[in-house]
Amino acid sequence: MNQKFQLKGLQGFMFGKIKFYEKKSNVVSIEFENGRASVDIITPSIINFFSPLSAERRASKAVENLKRMPGKITVDFIDGQVLVYTEKLKVSIADNFMVDIFDLNGKRICSDYRGEDKPFVRRGNDDDGNIAAEEGHQLEEERKSQKIKILKQLNPGSYFYGLGDRTGHLNKLGYHYKMWNTDNPNPHVESFETMYKSIPFFVALEKKIAYGIFFDNSYETIFDFGKENSDYYSFSAVDGNLDYYFIYGPSAKEVISGYTFLTGTTPLPQLWTLGYQQSRWSYAPEKRLQEIANNFRKKDIPCDVLYLDIDYMDGYRVFTWDQQKFPNHEKMLDRLKGQGYKVVTIIDPGVKKDKGYSIYDQGLKNNYFATDRDGIPYVNRVWPGKALYPDFSNQTVRHWWAENQKILVNHGVAGVWNDMNEPASFDGPLPDDVQFNDNGRLTDHREIHNVYGHYMSKATYEGIKTATNKRPFVITRASYAGTQKYATVWTGDNQSLWEHLRMSLPMLMNLGMSGFAFCGTDVGGFGFDCTQELLSRWVQVGAFTALFRNHSSASMRDQEPWAFDEKTESINRKYIKLRYRLLPYFYDIMHDEETTGLPMIRPLLLDYQNDENVYGINDEFMSGSNILVAPVVEQGETARMVYLPKGNRWIDYWTKAVFDGGQYIVKNAPLDVCPIYVKEGGIIPMYPAQNYVGEKKISQLTLDIYPFTEKGKSCYEHYQDDGESFDYRSGNYNLYDFILKRSGNLIEINISKTREAYGEKYQSFKFIINGIKPLEFLVDGQTRKIENDDDQFSFTVSNTAKKIDLKF
Ligand code: GLC
Repeated sequence: MNQKFQLKGLQGFMFGKIKFYEKKSNVVSIEFENGRASVDIITPSIINFFSPLSAERRASKAVENLKRMPGKITVDFIDGQVLVYTEKLKVSIADNFMVDIFDLNGKRICSDYRGEDKPFVRRGNDDDGNIAAEEGHQLEEERKSQKIKILKQLNPGSYFYGLGDRTGHLNKLGYHYKMWNTDNPNPHVESFETMYKSIPFFVALEKKIAYGIFFDNSYETIFDFGKENSDYYSFSAVDGNLDYYFIYGPSAKEVISGYTFLTGTTPLPQLWTLGYQQSRWSYAPEKRLQEIANNFRKKDIPCDVLYLDIDYMDGYRVFTWDQQKFPNHEKMLDRLKGQGYKVVTIIDPGVKKDKGYSIYDQGLKNNYFATDRDGIPYVNRVWPGKALYPDFSNQTVRHWWAENQKILVNHGVAGVWNDMNEPASFDGPLPDDVQFNDNGRLTDHREIHNVYGHYMSKATYEGIKTATNKRPFVITRASYAGTQKYATVWTGDNQSLWEHLRMSLPMLMNLGMSGFAFCGTDVGGFGFDCTQELLSRWVQVGAFTALFRNHSSASMRDQEPWAFDEKTESINRKYIKLRYRLLPYFYDIMHDEETTGLPMIRPLLLDYQNDENVYGINDEFMSGSNILVAPVVEQGETARMVYLPKGNRWIDYWTKAVFDGGQYIVKNAPLDVCPIYVKEGGIIPMYPAQNYVGEKKISQLTLDIYPFTEKGKSCYEHYQDDGESFDYRSGNYNLYDFILKRSGNLIEINISKTREAYGEKYQSFKFIINGIKPLEFLVDGQTRKIENDDDQFSFTVSNTAKKIDLKF
């Protein structure tokens, strides 16, 4: 620890007066009486505040290959304050490292709180507490002392989002959370302070202005959004450095883009990973898996992915196969591949302690496992019984783990599911002093715990990438900030409860706000027995989440789309098919996301930040920027209130009725109807439904058009590539621009191909014009006959068409 710093209770540093400052390139270093800090201008809108407490600057575990684009910076010293001007912000640093941030018009955006921290008083004496505990009430855990604590002023009208998939509601104001990856098999409830992931990043929204803070500290951290005191919010850590990034919006979208500029975006996935996925603990033996595979095809329900949970392994030894249950797995994987399936296998970190088992022997011989203080490999218990924990913080170990992926993918496995990597343990938690070797630097479990799953996913991603040269599909339960670069995530062990369906929406929206564009929940619920109604409603949500996976626990009732009755089965079929028709739309979102970081499932406030009515909406979301989904998440409900945001009109996807934005409407929603609205001017690319991605050669792209009822103009960019390789990174893709314009009685659609590098081009485009039938219709100036008799007007043009005119 740097002795220069004096800690004052929970408040953290008392830096004292500014003694000296200097600017070197984009970093302003400040010497205080009792310490030193730096203000690092990453971009005009992203600023890092740093002070070494436990060590000199350490390589961030989340931020890799940081690009700096600081722009013009000027520094001044006025009235005892260091003033740093970027092209977007003014940052003032006063004594005690008190920071205030303003926009260039002088408007205050975010300020350090000047008072003392004063948590509210918990009334009741110890005896009361003991009695309450005896009765079974959970009392709040005693908080470890926090070495670093930053307090920021909390103003009325503030909202907070992010922190990954915390339980509870979308807006985190008034709540308190701890970042310490936790495998908690109890049902997720609103009061949970910890979850499987630790994403120490949040977005604040105040008076329509958004900014974000990323506290890059992998130790146990705490975020309190005005729970302990409504005058401030705070973030604190038990150790590590004071190291946080301020990310200015003013739009929440810019904040997310800024955050993913730092920590990375999710790379474009293979197209099939956006298809429907069926899982279960466990499909075994082989005959059962084959039965499931055959059933999907027989029942005409699309499905791309089947999962093998822990029972495919030999005694839960990772990278092995149970020879009894799966006597010839390569042949089986090959046969399933012929049916269009991709098989994903689970891999947990715990390596069975078992002499003669090659993975254990290799790990032991090479010192690849985390140890106790005496260097003896640390043992706990997980599925295989006594097990050891690979030290993923060590690059050499990651390399070994990456190589091991070949054992799976070279024999036909399509993706790897990393579970139990919080890391979970059955014989009590790993002690704080379990030792890790972070690339030559010895450290302990306190620092590595929250990044254990992150590093495991990184190793898995890199191993699959090298082995297959395709875009890896990795799914992980535990994560840290930045894991989105390597893996998709699910929210862990939920239950088949309506409360969990409801809560999955804000959980997924907040994950999306935290850089995790590719995420989902166990559709139907993991624990507990699902019901027909719950599965019918859950599949309607799942169809719009990036990861669309039905999964359930051992000994629960069957939960496949056909496991209940015909009605449930047909609802599953309807929404899974809708998902497949919308695949090009979802793929476009993921392509766009690779640049912007903007997720597939979004809270309404991302697109409608000027409409304060949407700031707290938990049960509606945007799918990309054209589709609004307002699922039914209450048992027995067959109608629901839907808020349509201000700023444009909305078209009911099912009835084509048009509504003004800025109003609440009531939508009838019998069990087979999920309320879906398309933004006026929306253009939605569609494919025909298929049993699995690649079943049909797609030579025609359908464009589902929702024209303006009055004047308006919109654009849509569609992306096309081979759906699996990295060739797009060297330019092998096509881009199509569709522009829709309406003025008076004329609708004009322009098609342009802005990039044509990928060989498999569409032969034709089919347009569906919703709600409007023209009197006259021209393609590139040539009049065409109107053929449709029904309300829906559609037509097909060749891939050379450039302009379509519809006259009324
Ligand atoms: C954990 C996972 C769950 C999996 C089970 C068995 O509970 O969260 O998805 O099915 O372990 O591997």
